[in-house]
Amino acid sequence: MRDLVEAARLARARAHAPYSKFFVGAAMRDEKGRVFSGCNIENAAYPQGWCAEPSAISALIMAGGTRITEVAVLGNGDALCTPCGGCRQKIREFAAGDVKIHCCTEAGALIRTFTLDELLPASFGPENLR
Ligand code: THU
Repeated sequence: MRDLVEAARLARARAHAPYSKFFVGAAMRDEKGRVFSGCNIENAAYPQGWCAEPSAISALIMAGGTRITEVAVLGNGDALCTPCGGCRQKIREFAAGDVKIHCCTEAGALIRTFTLDELLPASFGPENLR
């Protein structure tokens, strides 16, 4: 878990968040154990910005990963930074309900670990379309 949190912490340093000044880093482990990270990237046309989680998911998918097996997210300071609703659904596309989502402080200390099921109960996913 430490490697995942450290990757999220380093990714946060790359965040482009001049408008909210809320800097987020996310890291995801794939089914091969590889770690991918991403940051939030805001835009002067505010709605065009995006969260750290999809940045990390994009890196994972582009490297050939197909599943998310563990997640770490951290924002500003010591406040709990859970993935937003849209990000929970994006993670859901590639993750099982028991996947752990570690929410950490800016410095990388663990605040709380959730499962995806806890954050997105009774979710809609790919199985619903089979
Ligand atoms: N943000 C994320 O990157 N991930 C989340 O799950 C919550 C919110 C970003 C989006 C925006 O750039 C900033 O945090 C403030 O909402």
